[in-house]
Amino acid sequence: MNAAITATARYLPEGVLTNKDLERMLDTNDEWIRTRTGISERRILRDPAKATAFMGGKVAKQLLEKRGLRADELELIIVATMTPDMLFPSTACLVQDIIGAKNAWAFDINAACSGFMYALNTASKFIEAGTHKNVMVIGGDKMSSIIDYTDRSTAILFGDGAGGVILEAAGSEGYGVLDARMYSDGTGGKDHLLMKGGGSLNPATHETVDQHLHYIHQDGRMVFKSAVTSMADVAAEIMERNNLTSDDISWLVPHQANQRIISATAERMGIDDSKVISNVARYGNTTAGTIPICLSELDDRGDLMRGSNLVLVSFGAGYTWGGIYVKWQ
Ligand code: UT7
Repeated sequence: MNAAITATARYLPEGVLTNKDLERMLDTNDEWIRTRTGISERRILRDPAKATAFMGGKVAKQLLEKRGLRADELELIIVATMTPDMLFPSTACLVQDIIGAKNAWAFDINAACSGFMYALNTASKFIEAGTHKNVMVIGGDKMSSIIDYTDRSTAILFGDGAGGVILEAAGSEGYGVLDARMYSDGTGGKDHLLMKGGGSLNPATHETVDQHLHYIHQDGRMVFKSAVTSMADVAAEIMERNNLTSDDISWLVPHQANQRIISATAERMGIDDSKVISNVARYGNTTAGTIPICLSELDDRGDLMRGSNLVLVSFGAGYTWGGIYVKWQ
């Protein structure tokens, strides 16, 4: 039996960082940011005592409530993040504790911007195998914790946020997560999109802090080229493998990194902008949060009907990318 999404939820912190705010902090301007990225503002979790697990916990509580599940009925929690509260324990264990899911096991997945896609694909296997009745999958990042707000090339792009879903066996055949294609290319990522400090290679020292190694570093132009090609290719591949024409697709749910990448992917698929969810203008790039946040917004708007064909696509550090085909049940 395929895995179906039976609940969606999201959490965006209240703090707003607008392009105008950034103009006061950096040599940048609202017009450049909007035309090059489509971003107008992003959310920031300003309380230093709160981080990714806090946002994941907010999502988890809503998911249980929406689905009418008790915390002790949950069997597995997977959290996709590249900004865990700590290197260990995992953020999934912290979320488990926040909601009191005492019978669940819990682990993290780090595939950067593709984290939620990797986690959704992994989670669906536990349902398909019949070993688990339910899995909670959360994607989220406190990107503001690894942004150098003196670096205009990255500071404008990212925001904080989290989203998630509950997966259970589909009620009928032919619904749910029907196909997934995942890719990694370790040759591509290590120079162009990374955080050098804080791991076992460059543990924190005064020098690593002085050298700004604990911040995200990106060669935007290089990543842009790979993202456009890879997201468009994997979207086309998902369509071909499942005999989907552009008319069959109800929603393209793309990773929200840059409106130009989103539009290029939609164009390659031949689908109209009206069938593409985009909230990059309001939230920027929340990394592992983007796709579940989009799903939750579509769901709350009542835009997901039984039989709706969704194509989810992502690209991120690693490089990692992938596409997932979901028929909404
Ligand atoms: O989610 C993970 C994957 N990440 C992505 O998908 C991000 C992919 N990359 C991008 O979205 C884009 O490459 C950026 C938005 C990061 C940059 O846009 P771009 O069109 O590739 O600009 P660029 O880096 O080629 O820079 C163009 C110019 C440069 O000036 P010169 O050399 O032409 O004089 C930059 O110095 O724009 C300048 N620039 C800025 N100007 C004002 C770069 N950042 C800014 C800024 N404000 N914030």
